[in-house]
Amino acid sequence: MSEKDFIAHHQASIENGNFQWSAPSNIALVKYWGKKDKQIPANPSISFTLNNCKTITKLAFVKRGFSTALDVTSSDFSFDLLFEGKPKENFKPKIQKFFERIEIYCPYLKDYHFTIDTENTFPHSSGIASSASAMAALAINIMSLEKALNPAMTEDFFCQKASFLARLGSGSACRSVKGSVVVWGNHVEINDSSDLFGIEFPSQLHANFKNYQDTILLVDKGEKQVSSTVGHDLMHNHPFAEQRFAQAHQNLSAIKTVLENGNLEEFIKIVESEALTLHAMMMTSLPYFILMKPNTLEIINKIWKFRNETKTPVCFTLDAGANVHVLYPENVRENVLQFIKDELVGYCQNGNYICDAIGNGSQLIIDN
Ligand code: PMV
Repeated sequence: MSEKDFIAHHQASIENGNFQWSAPSNIALVKYWGKKDKQIPANPSISFTLNNCKTITKLAFVKRGFSTALDVTSSDFSFDLLFEGKPKENFKPKIQKFFERIEIYCPYLKDYHFTIDTENTFPHSSGIASSASAMAALAINIMSLEKALNPAMTEDFFCQKASFLARLGSGSACRSVKGSVVVWGNHVEINDSSDLFGIEFPSQLHANFKNYQDTILLVDKGEKQVSSTVGHDLMHNHPFAEQRFAQAHQNLSAIKTVLENGNLEEFIKIVESEALTLHAMMMTSLPYFILMKPNTLEIINKIWKFRNETKTPVCFTLDAGANVHVLYPENVRENVLQFIKDELVGYCQNGNYICDAIGNGSQLIIDN
């Protein structure tokens, strides 16, 4: 598939309707950090899809000119944005930019006025990046409209283009459309992998990873001092960039084998090394920055101690922030949750954490 294959040529033949989809967040095991023009990743990445942390978005659309109240002469996009049912003006520029980026692929967008009503299942300002689930949920809703305009569209194309559009909103969002384990970015050992969209991990996932748990420890809910856009940019001319990109390819090869054979010791090594490498890239860019907090390090050390003493296969990963994702198999859930309550909750802001697990991707809720 090339970018041109995603350009739609359909007439806006439907007057109005609405859809509602939920899309999950995802947590990368091999991280995406650094990008080229048009949200093309500098290296491939792979993630677990989450089950409970989701964005739920309703997209209502009405053809412009259909209602006299709407401005038919405007050549700009026309949309209202609601967050939890209330207008949210400061989210609009991001959506405007998203529409501008995807317009070439969805030329019918300006034919409609949209009402986008969105909410998250996780607390706002919890420090959990909502852009992946939010952009995925919006992109999938738009694809529902496109499918209504072109009913012959295949399921595969629907998902590919939804992921392709989501990527243009926020890179990692392309891994939040379909499947429990998703690969994004060209990799020689993964058939059909693409820089343009995420694909489901094509191998059979080992039973050790069934219902894999992710408990997210909310260490810091504050605004990030450095956005991921700025962070990605700092990989240009980064002294270790080329080595890092090569390492991500190797780690993806290694984790592919691990996800097939269930070797948890190897899984832990790759995942923790990836998390620390991501933050090492931040600490060694110019300007340099640190997103971990003292409690992030306290938690990491406690996890290492617990793992050494109990031989429980529990590990951590990090996003571009201070929160810690604690990853472990379902069969040690009780022990790990007890450990979290006894030893880690004290490092979380207001004692907050979220219990999640590997999920399956987006879900259609309303189709009108
Ligand atoms: O999708 P973005 O541009 O917010 O970048 C996300 C980058 C990381 O979350 C740090 C890593 C990843 O692969 O998700």
